[in-house]
Amino acid sequence: MGATIAVLSQKGGTGKTTSVRTLTDVFRRVGLDVLAVDLDPQGNLSDYFDVDPEAAPTIGDVLAGGAKAEEAVHDGIIPANLSLAEAELMLAGKMGRELTLKRALKPLGERYDLILLDCPPSLGLLTVNALVAADHALLSAEAQYFALQGVEQALEVIELARDGLNPGLQWLGVVLNITDMRTVHSREAFESLREHIGAKLFRSTVRQSIAYAESAERAISILDHRPDLGADYVALADELLERLRMNEARERLKPLAEAAPRS
Ligand SMILES: Nc1ncnc2c1ncn2[C@@H]1O[C@H](COP(=O)(O)OP(=O)(O)OP(=O)(O)O)[C@@H](O)[C@H]1O
Ligand SMILES: [Mg+2]
Repeated sequence: MGATIAVLSQKGGTGKTTSVRTLTDVFRRVGLDVLAVDLDPQGNLSDYFDVDPEAAPTIGDVLAGGAKAEEAVHDGIIPANLSLAEAELMLAGKMGRELTLKRALKPLGERYDLILLDCPPSLGLLTVNALVAADHALLSAEAQYFALQGVEQALEVIELARDGLNPGLQWLGVVLNITDMRTVHSREAFESLREHIGAKLFRSTVRQSIAYAESAERAISILDHRPDLGADYVALADELLERLRMNEARERLKPLAEAAPRS
């Protein structure tokens, strides 16, 4: 049985989609079968993977009940577009609305080693669906003064999911994203998070670089565009596989880490 991981944050622009995109790449490079699911009507993940904008069906069709999840997989990703906003509205008035994604993804759980869910920048119904469908939650936080507040709010939503529909949901931890550890600002954000959440804070942080915008624009993985920066995600993937107890995959990651040392 594979594991499903929801990647979320309380606010927008914390690097969630870049994380899902890049972690999917890293995990695939060590031979894992990974499905990436775009749960954001903006469709950024679909763009980052260069999915044909006309690809159909999408996650919107799946949540609206018009297609099966397996039919919506295009090259290892279930894409999203604006129709997801409509599907979300429709879902809001339905019984079992929080369980829709879980039910839809169930037949796929056995087919993949990992399913990564890219949440939209709000803690609304789509994110709740992701948290109910997931085994694990991974928080992304931008290195800002208010990072801790955002993490606390996201944790409250995780708690709600646990108390209600998904008692088995595990919190993997928080990755500090878009950092510049040369600045006091980023170092303080890291320290304040570490004080509050201890070992739940990943040791690896993702450095800020303009190369990410270039890589998104060209739909080229940062692992290929700038392997020296991609090394941050290789290190993060290593910590994740450790927490997921996927030791064989972790072994296979070693040559990748050696091939692209951090700059
Ligand atoms: N490490 C990084 N350094 C600099 N820029 C980054 C980094 N990671 C992502 N970005 C850029 O920051 C912007 C937001 O990133 P991304 O789309 O991954 O965030 P998000 O949390 O998914 O946003 P949203 O909340 O809108 O879904 C993008 O323009 C992306 O290219
Ligand atoms: Mg996003």
